[in-house]
Amino acid sequence: DSVAAILVAAGRGERAGHSTEGPKQYRTVGGRAVLAHALALFQSHPRIETIVLVIHADDRALCERALGPEAARVHLVTGGAERQLSVRRGLEFLRASGRPPGIVLIHDAVRPFVDHATIDRVIAAAIAHGGAVPAVAIADTIKRATSDLSVAETVPRSGLYGAQTPQGFHFEAIVGAHDAAAGSGRSDFTDDASIAEWAGTRVVLVEGAAGNVKLTTREDIAAADERLKEKLP
Ligand code: C5P
Repeated sequence: DSVAAILVAAGRGERAGHSTEGPKQYRTVGGRAVLAHALALFQSHPRIETIVLVIHADDRALCERALGPEAARVHLVTGGAERQLSVRRGLEFLRASGRPPGIVLIHDAVRPFVDHATIDRVIAAAIAHGGAVPAVAIADTIKRATSDLSVAETVPRSGLYGAQTPQGFHFEAIVGAHDAAAGSGRSDFTDDASIAEWAGTRVVLVEGAAGNVKLTTREDIAAADERLKEKLP
C-alpha cells in the first residue's frame, strides 16, 4: 500500500496566546518551528511517499520562512475554518492528484514529538483493520464538572484512552466518511477517528507515546523548548 500523510497546520492557535512568531505551529522550539519538527519526522520515514501540509491562507509567507527549502518537498494546501474542513481539503487534494494513496496518515502539526515507531504501528494497523489511532491509557482520575466547576461525577477510568495523531486509514474509507460527515452538515468532529467511527469504519487503538504531546498552551510550548534544548549536545 502506498502511504501519504496530511499534516494540518491551519489553526489560529488562540489558546497559546499571541506571539510575534504567529500561531503556535510556527513558534520556534529547539531552534526551529514546531511544524518543521513534525514535518521532518514524516519526511524521513521510508514508507511515506507524499506529504500534504494544510495551512491558513494568511500563513503562506510564514510557512515558507519556517520550512526554507523543505517547503518545495511538500504540497501546500489552504485549510478551512474548522480542523475537520482543513483535513477534508487535504483529502480532496490527494483525491484530485490522480494517484490517491492506499493509506493516509492524518497528523496535527502541533505534535512535534511524533516518532517513527508510532508511525509504523499506525500504518500496520490501518492496513489490517481500516482505521488506527495511537493512544495512551488515561492516568488521571477523570471528573465531569458543571460550568461552575462543581463535580458532577467521577468517570471510571478503566477502558479510557487519550487519542493522539497520526491517525491512519484506508484512503477511500476516510474520504467516504468525511464526505458523509460534510453531507450531514456536521463540522464539529475533533479528530478523524471519530468521523470514521461515526461512518461505521472499524478503528483500532495502537500503542501511542507519552511524549507525543499536543502543544496547546503557552506553557506547553515553553516545556517543548526545554525538552528539545536538553537533547542538543
Ligand atoms: O485547535 P487544535 O489544537 O485542536 O488543532 C489541532 C490541529 O488542527 C492543529 O495542528 C491546527 O493547526 C489544525 N487546525 C487546522 N485548521 C483549523 C483548525 C485547526 O488545520 N481550522
